[in-house]
Amino acid sequence: MNYIGSKLKLSSFIEESIRNSVGDIEDKIFCDIFAGSGVVGRHFKRLTKQVISNDIEYYSYVLNKNYIENNSLVETAHLIEELNSLHGIEGFIYTHYSIGGHGDRRYFSDHNAQKIDAIRVKIEEWYESHYINDNIYYHLLASLIESADKVANTASVYGAYLKHLKKSAQKDLLLKEAHFNISGDKHKVYREDANTLISKISGDILYMDPPYNQRQYGANYHMLNTIALYDRFTPQGKTGLREYTRSDYCKKSKVYESFEELIASANFEYIFLSYNNEGLMSCSEVEEIMGRYGEYSLATTSYQRFKADKSTNRNHKATSTVEYLHILKREIST
Ligand SMILES: C[S@@+](CC[C@H](N)C(=O)[O-])C[C@H]1O[C@@H](n2cnc3c(N)ncnc32)[C@H](O)[C@@H]1O
Repeated sequence: MNYIGSKLKLSSFIEESIRNSVGDIEDKIFCDIFAGSGVVGRHFKRLTKQVISNDIEYYSYVLNKNYIENNSLVETAHLIEELNSLHGIEGFIYTHYSIGGHGDRRYFSDHNAQKIDAIRVKIEEWYESHYINDNIYYHLLASLIESADKVANTASVYGAYLKHLKKSAQKDLLLKEAHFNISGDKHKVYREDANTLISKISGDILYMDPPYNQRQYGANYHMLNTIALYDRFTPQGKTGLREYTRSDYCKKSKVYESFEELIASANFEYIFLSYNNEGLMSCSEVEEIMGRYGEYSLATTSYQRFKADKSTNRNHKATSTVEYLHILKREIST
Protein backbone atom coordinates (compact mmCIF):
# COMPACT_ATOMS: atom_id res chain seq x y z
CA MET A 1 0.00 0.00 0.00
CA ASN A 2 1.11 3.52 -0.75
CA TYR A 3 0.79 4.68 2.88
CA ILE A 4 1.71 8.14 4.20
CA GLY A 5 4.89 7.81 6.23
CA SER A 6 5.49 4.22 5.08
CA LYS A 7 8.95 2.99 6.04
CA LEU A 8 9.08 0.42 3.25
CA LYS A 9 12.13 2.04 1.66
CA LEU A 10 13.76 2.66 5.03
CA SER A 11 13.48 -0.79 6.58
CA SER A 12 17.12 -1.71 5.81
CA PHE A 13 18.33 1.55 7.38
CA ILE A 14 16.16 0.89 10.45
CA GLU A 15 17.41 -2.71 10.71
CA GLU A 16 21.05 -1.67 10.38
CA SER A 17 20.72 1.07 13.00
CA ILE A 18 18.96 -1.30 15.39
CA ARG A 19 21.62 -3.98 14.93
CA ASN A 20 24.35 -1.38 15.54
CA SER A 21 22.84 -0.52 18.92
CA VAL A 22 21.39 -3.84 20.06
CA GLY A 23 23.68 -6.46 18.47
CA ASP A 24 21.97 -9.83 17.91
CA ILE A 25 18.21 -9.48 17.63
CA GLU A 26 17.09 -13.10 16.99
CA ASP A 27 15.98 -13.65 20.59
CA LYS A 28 14.45 -10.18 21.06
CA ILE A 29 10.85 -9.03 21.40
CA PHE A 30 10.21 -6.20 18.94
CA CYS A 31 7.27 -3.81 19.22
CA ASP A 32 5.99 -1.68 16.32
CA ILE A 33 3.63 0.54 18.31
CA PHE A 34 2.49 2.89 15.47
CA ALA A 35 2.35 0.13 12.86
CA GLY A 36 0.34 1.68 9.98
CA SER A 37 0.73 -0.51 6.90
CA GLY A 38 2.78 -2.94 8.99
CA VAL A 39 5.89 -2.99 6.80
CA VAL A 40 8.31 -2.54 9.70
CA GLY A 41 6.72 -5.31 11.79
CA ARG A 42 6.72 -7.57 8.73
CA HIS A 43 10.41 -6.93 8.22
CA PHE A 44 11.26 -7.77 11.84
CA LYS A 45 8.91 -10.78 11.97
CA ARG A 46 11.58 -12.65 10.01
CA LEU A 47 14.41 -11.45 12.22
CA THR A 48 13.26 -11.45 15.85
CA LYS A 49 11.68 -13.87 18.32
CA GLN A 50 8.37 -12.06 18.61
CA VAL A 51 6.64 -9.01 17.16
CA ILE A 52 4.03 -6.95 18.98
CA SER A 53 2.17 -4.68 16.58
CA ASN A 54 -0.27 -1.88 17.34
CA ASP A 55 -2.13 0.97 15.67
CA ILE A 56 -5.18 2.97 16.64
CA GLU A 57 -6.86 2.58 13.23
CA TYR A 58 -9.03 -0.46 12.41
CA TYR A 59 -7.80 -0.93 8.82
CA SER A 60 -4.25 -1.11 10.19
CA TYR A 61 -5.36 -3.64 12.82
CA VAL A 62 -6.80 -5.80 10.03
CA LEU A 63 -3.62 -5.58 7.94
CA ASN A 64 -1.45 -6.47 10.92
CA LYS A 65 -3.73 -9.26 12.17
CA ASN A 66 -3.04 -10.77 8.76
CA TYR A 67 0.61 -9.90 8.16
CA ILE A 68 1.91 -10.20 11.73
CA GLU A 69 -0.39 -12.39 13.81
CA ASN A 70 -1.22 -14.93 11.09
CA ASN A 71 1.55 -17.45 11.42
CA SER A 72 0.37 -20.75 9.96
CA LEU A 73 -0.63 -21.78 6.48
CA VAL A 74 -4.14 -20.81 5.35
CA GLU A 75 -5.69 -22.44 2.29
CA THR A 76 -7.70 -19.67 0.70
CA ALA A 77 -7.09 -19.78 -3.04
CA HIS A 78 -10.55 -21.32 -3.59
CA LEU A 79 -12.17 -18.62 -1.42
CA ILE A 80 -10.40 -15.82 -3.29
CA GLU A 81 -11.60 -17.37 -6.54
CA GLU A 82 -15.18 -17.55 -5.28
CA LEU A 83 -15.06 -13.92 -4.09
CA ASN A 84 -13.65 -12.78 -7.43
CA SER A 85 -16.50 -14.46 -9.28
CA LEU A 86 -19.29 -12.76 -7.28
CA HIS A 87 -21.70 -10.40 -9.01
CA GLY A 88 -21.64 -6.87 -7.65
CA ILE A 89 -24.41 -5.61 -5.36
CA GLU A 90 -25.71 -2.10 -4.64
CA GLY A 91 -24.53 -1.92 -1.02
CA PHE A 92 -23.17 0.80 1.29
CA ILE A 93 -20.00 1.55 -0.70
CA TYR A 94 -21.86 1.75 -4.00
CA THR A 95 -24.60 3.92 -2.49
CA HIS A 96 -22.32 6.44 -0.80
CA TYR A 97 -18.95 6.36 -2.52
CA SER A 98 -19.43 5.74 -6.23
CA ILE A 99 -20.64 7.88 -9.10
CA GLY A 100 -23.89 5.95 -9.44
CA GLY A 101 -24.73 6.33 -5.74
CA HIS A 102 -26.66 9.12 -3.98
CA GLY A 103 -23.77 11.30 -2.92
CA ASP A 104 -22.15 11.78 -6.33
CA ARG A 105 -18.90 10.83 -4.64
CA ARG A 106 -16.29 9.37 -6.95
CA TYR A 107 -14.03 7.18 -4.85
CA PHE A 108 -14.68 4.07 -6.97
CA SER A 109 -16.14 3.19 -10.35
CA ASP A 110 -19.71 1.85 -10.04
CA HIS A 111 -18.52 -1.61 -10.98
CA ASN A 112 -15.74 -1.69 -8.37
CA ALA A 113 -17.92 -0.24 -5.60
CA GLN A 114 -20.49 -2.98 -6.22
CA LYS A 115 -17.74 -5.61 -6.22
CA ILE A 116 -16.39 -4.32 -2.91
CA ASP A 117 -19.90 -4.54 -1.42
CA ALA A 118 -20.45 -8.08 -2.67
CA ILE A 119 -17.07 -9.32 -1.44
CA ARG A 120 -17.37 -7.58 1.94
CA VAL A 121 -20.87 -8.99 2.57
CA LYS A 122 -19.78 -12.52 1.64
CA ILE A 123 -16.71 -12.41 3.94
CA GLU A 124 -18.98 -11.41 6.86
CA GLU A 125 -21.51 -14.12 5.98
CA TRP A 126 -18.77 -16.77 6.00
CA TYR A 127 -17.41 -15.50 9.31
CA GLU A 128 -20.76 -15.33 11.06
CA SER A 129 -21.68 -18.84 9.95
CA HIS A 130 -18.24 -20.10 11.18
CA TYR A 131 -17.36 -21.23 7.68
CA ILE A 132 -14.07 -19.30 8.13
CA ASN A 133 -12.04 -18.71 11.31
CA ASP A 134 -10.41 -15.50 12.60
CA ASN A 135 -7.16 -16.10 10.70
CA ILE A 136 -8.91 -16.45 7.36
CA TYR A 137 -11.32 -13.61 8.16
CA TYR A 138 -8.47 -11.10 8.62
CA HIS A 139 -6.58 -12.56 5.69
CA LEU A 140 -9.54 -11.98 3.36
CA LEU A 141 -10.29 -8.53 4.81
CA ALA A 142 -6.64 -7.47 4.37
CA SER A 143 -6.75 -8.75 0.79
CA LEU A 144 -9.89 -6.67 0.17
CA ILE A 145 -8.47 -3.48 1.76
CA GLU A 146 -5.33 -3.63 -0.38
CA SER A 147 -7.11 -4.63 -3.58
CA ALA A 148 -9.73 -1.88 -3.16
CA ASP A 149 -6.98 0.67 -2.45
CA LYS A 150 -5.37 -0.20 -5.80
CA VAL A 151 -8.48 0.89 -7.74
CA ALA A 152 -9.40 3.93 -5.61
CA ASN A 153 -9.96 7.14 -7.56
CA THR A 154 -7.79 9.38 -5.38
CA ALA A 155 -4.47 11.21 -5.73
CA SER A 156 -3.11 9.21 -2.81
CA VAL A 157 -5.27 9.49 0.33
CA TYR A 158 -9.05 9.56 0.87
CA GLY A 159 -9.27 13.21 1.97
CA ALA A 160 -10.55 13.90 -1.57
CA TYR A 161 -11.49 11.99 -4.72
CA LEU A 162 -10.64 12.92 -8.29
CA LYS A 163 -13.20 14.48 -10.60
CA HIS A 164 -12.60 12.00 -13.42
CA LEU A 165 -11.85 8.31 -13.04
CA LYS A 166 -8.10 7.90 -13.35
CA LYS A 167 -6.70 4.98 -15.36
CA SER A 168 -6.03 2.66 -12.42
CA ALA A 169 -9.55 3.33 -11.05
CA GLN A 170 -11.09 2.28 -14.38
CA LYS A 171 -9.56 -1.19 -14.07
CA ASP A 172 -11.78 -3.90 -12.62
CA LEU A 173 -11.05 -4.79 -9.03
CA LEU A 174 -9.28 -8.10 -8.71
CA LEU A 175 -9.00 -9.54 -5.21
CA LYS A 176 -5.35 -10.40 -4.68
CA GLU A 177 -4.24 -12.51 -1.78
CA ALA A 178 -2.35 -10.64 0.98
CA HIS A 179 0.37 -13.26 1.50
CA PHE A 180 2.10 -13.25 4.90
CA ASN A 181 5.33 -14.80 6.19
CA ILE A 182 5.41 -17.62 8.71
CA SER A 183 8.00 -17.37 11.47
CA GLY A 184 9.05 -18.03 15.06
CA ASP A 185 6.87 -17.63 18.10
CA LYS A 186 3.40 -16.25 18.56
CA HIS A 187 3.03 -12.62 17.49
CA LYS A 188 0.46 -10.25 18.93
CA VAL A 189 -1.56 -7.40 17.41
CA TYR A 190 -3.43 -4.65 19.26
CA ARG A 191 -5.64 -1.74 18.34
CA GLU A 192 -5.13 0.74 21.17
CA ASP A 193 -3.84 4.20 21.84
CA ALA A 194 -0.07 3.69 22.14
CA ASN A 195 -0.07 5.54 25.46
CA THR A 196 -2.64 3.13 26.92
CA LEU A 197 -1.03 0.00 25.54
CA ILE A 198 2.50 0.85 26.69
CA SER A 199 1.86 0.08 30.35
CA LYS A 200 0.46 -3.38 29.48
CA ILE A 201 3.40 -4.67 27.43
CA SER A 202 7.14 -5.18 27.74
CA GLY A 203 9.95 -6.32 25.49
CA ASP A 204 13.43 -5.49 24.23
CA ILE A 205 13.09 -3.14 21.24
CA LEU A 206 10.39 -0.50 20.97
CA TYR A 207 10.08 1.06 17.52
CA MET A 208 7.97 4.22 17.36
CA ASP A 209 6.81 5.87 14.15
CA PRO A 210 4.08 8.31 15.20
CA PRO A 211 2.50 10.86 12.87
CA TYR A 212 4.71 13.92 12.76
CA ASN A 213 2.26 16.56 11.56
CA GLN A 214 -1.40 17.60 11.92
CA ARG A 215 -2.74 15.20 9.29
CA GLN A 216 -4.96 12.68 11.03
CA TYR A 217 -4.75 9.16 9.61
CA GLY A 218 -8.38 8.42 10.51
CA ALA A 219 -9.51 11.22 8.18
CA ASN A 220 -7.05 10.45 5.40
CA TYR A 221 -7.92 6.74 5.33
CA HIS A 222 -11.61 6.88 6.35
CA MET A 223 -12.62 4.84 3.31
CA LEU A 224 -10.44 1.89 4.38
CA ASN A 225 -12.01 1.92 7.85
CA THR A 226 -15.46 1.99 6.27
CA ILE A 227 -14.71 -1.02 4.07
CA ALA A 228 -13.07 -2.91 6.95
CA LEU A 229 -15.73 -2.12 9.57
CA TYR A 230 -18.68 -2.17 7.13
CA ASP A 231 -20.92 -0.63 9.78
CA ARG A 232 -23.80 1.78 9.21
CA PHE A 233 -23.46 5.56 9.71
CA THR A 234 -24.42 8.73 7.91
CA PRO A 235 -21.48 9.80 5.74
CA GLN A 236 -20.69 13.46 6.29
CA GLY A 237 -20.04 16.18 3.72
CA LYS A 238 -18.59 16.08 0.25
CA THR A 239 -16.13 13.31 1.06
CA GLY A 240 -18.49 11.10 3.09
CA LEU A 241 -16.32 11.22 6.17
CA ARG A 242 -17.10 9.05 9.21
CA GLU A 243 -16.33 9.84 12.87
CA TYR A 244 -12.62 9.39 13.37
CA THR A 245 -10.09 9.25 16.19
CA ARG A 246 -7.97 12.34 16.65
CA SER A 247 -4.46 11.47 17.72
CA ASP A 248 -2.61 13.60 20.28
CA TYR A 249 0.52 13.07 18.18
CA CYS A 250 -1.08 15.31 15.52
CA LYS A 251 -1.66 18.18 17.98
CA LYS A 252 1.03 20.72 18.71
CA SER A 253 -0.46 21.34 22.16
CA LYS A 254 -0.41 17.64 23.17
CA VAL A 255 2.41 15.92 21.33
CA TYR A 256 5.26 16.85 23.66
CA GLU A 257 3.48 15.64 26.78
CA SER A 258 2.19 12.41 25.14
CA PHE A 259 5.60 11.58 23.76
CA GLU A 260 7.31 12.01 27.11
CA GLU A 261 4.63 9.93 28.84
CA LEU A 262 5.19 7.14 26.31
CA ILE A 263 8.95 7.12 26.83
CA ALA A 264 8.60 7.28 30.61
CA SER A 265 6.20 4.30 30.70
CA ALA A 266 8.06 2.11 28.21
CA ASN A 267 9.35 -1.13 29.65
CA PHE A 268 11.84 -1.73 26.82
CA GLU A 269 15.62 -1.46 26.96
CA TYR A 270 16.02 0.02 23.48
CA ILE A 271 13.76 2.68 22.02
CA PHE A 272 13.92 3.91 18.42
CA LEU A 273 11.92 6.82 17.07
CA SER A 274 11.50 7.69 13.39
CA TYR A 275 10.67 11.37 13.15
CA ASN A 276 10.79 13.88 10.36
CA ASN A 277 12.80 17.07 10.79
CA GLU A 278 9.71 19.08 9.76
CA GLY A 279 7.66 17.51 12.56
CA LEU A 280 5.60 19.12 15.34
CA MET A 281 8.47 18.40 17.73
CA SER A 282 11.90 19.68 16.74
CA CYS A 283 14.94 17.43 16.72
CA SER A 284 16.34 19.14 19.80
CA GLU A 285 13.03 18.73 21.68
CA VAL A 286 13.07 15.01 20.90
CA GLU A 287 16.67 14.75 22.02
CA GLU A 288 15.92 16.65 25.22
CA ILE A 289 13.04 14.35 26.16
CA MET A 290 14.74 11.07 25.26
CA GLY A 291 17.99 12.17 26.86
CA ARG A 292 16.24 12.37 30.25
CA TYR A 293 15.73 8.59 30.27
CA GLY A 294 19.14 7.19 29.31
CA GLU A 295 21.83 7.24 26.66
CA TYR A 296 20.69 9.13 23.54
CA SER A 297 22.10 8.97 20.00
CA LEU A 298 20.96 9.76 16.46
CA ALA A 299 21.20 7.97 13.10
CA THR A 300 20.31 9.66 9.80
CA THR A 301 19.99 8.78 6.14
CA SER A 302 18.85 10.76 3.13
CA TYR A 303 16.43 9.33 0.61
CA GLN A 304 14.08 10.32 -2.23
CA ARG A 305 10.52 10.99 -1.17
CA PHE A 306 7.56 11.56 -3.50
CA LYS A 307 5.29 14.45 -2.62
CA ALA A 308 1.81 15.01 -4.06
CA ASP A 309 1.83 18.09 -6.26
CA LYS A 310 -1.10 20.17 -5.01
CA SER A 311 -1.35 22.26 -8.18
CA THR A 312 -2.30 19.28 -10.38
CA ASN A 313 -3.45 16.93 -7.60
CA ARG A 314 -1.93 14.20 -9.70
CA ASN A 315 1.76 14.31 -10.34
CA HIS A 316 4.34 13.53 -7.74
CA LYS A 317 7.51 15.53 -7.18
CA ALA A 318 10.63 13.79 -5.94
CA THR A 319 12.41 15.60 -3.12
CA SER A 320 15.46 14.60 -1.16
CA THR A 321 14.66 14.19 2.54
CA VAL A 322 16.70 13.36 5.59
CA GLU A 323 15.21 10.63 7.77
CA TYR A 324 16.07 10.69 11.45
CA LEU A 325 16.17 7.72 13.79
CA HIS A 326 16.44 8.81 17.42
CA ILE A 327 17.90 6.13 19.65
CA LEU A 328 17.61 5.64 23.40
CA LYS A 329 19.23 2.95 25.51
CA ARG A 330 17.18 3.00 28.67
CA GLU A 331 18.00 2.22 32.22
CA ILE A 332 15.37 -0.35 33.22
CA SER A 333 14.70 -0.61 36.93
CA THR A 334 14.03 -4.22 37.96
C1 LIG B 1 3.79 7.39 10.28
S1 LIG B 1 2.46 6.28 10.39
C2 LIG B 1 3.27 4.74 10.62
C3 LIG B 1 3.78 4.20 9.33
C4 LIG B 1 4.33 2.80 9.44
N1 LIG B 1 5.59 2.76 10.13
C5 LIG B 1 4.48 2.20 8.06
O1 LIG B 1 5.62 1.98 7.62
O2 LIG B 1 3.47 1.99 7.39
C6 LIG B 1 1.79 6.63 11.97
C7 LIG B 1 0.69 5.68 12.46
O3 LIG B 1 0.38 5.98 13.81
C8 LIG B 1 -0.99 5.70 14.03
N2 LIG B 1 -1.39 6.44 15.27
C9 LIG B 1 -1.57 7.78 15.41
N3 LIG B 1 -1.81 8.08 16.70
C10 LIG B 1 -1.75 6.92 17.38
C11 LIG B 1 -1.88 6.59 18.76
N4 LIG B 1 -2.12 7.53 19.69
N5 LIG B 1 -1.75 5.29 19.13
C12 LIG B 1 -1.51 4.33 18.20
N6 LIG B 1 -1.39 4.58 16.89
C13 LIG B 1 -1.49 5.87 16.47
C14 LIG B 1 -1.66 6.15 12.75
O4 LIG B 1 -2.89 5.51 12.56
C15 LIG B 1 -0.62 5.75 11.70
O5 LIG B 1 -0.90 4.50 11.12
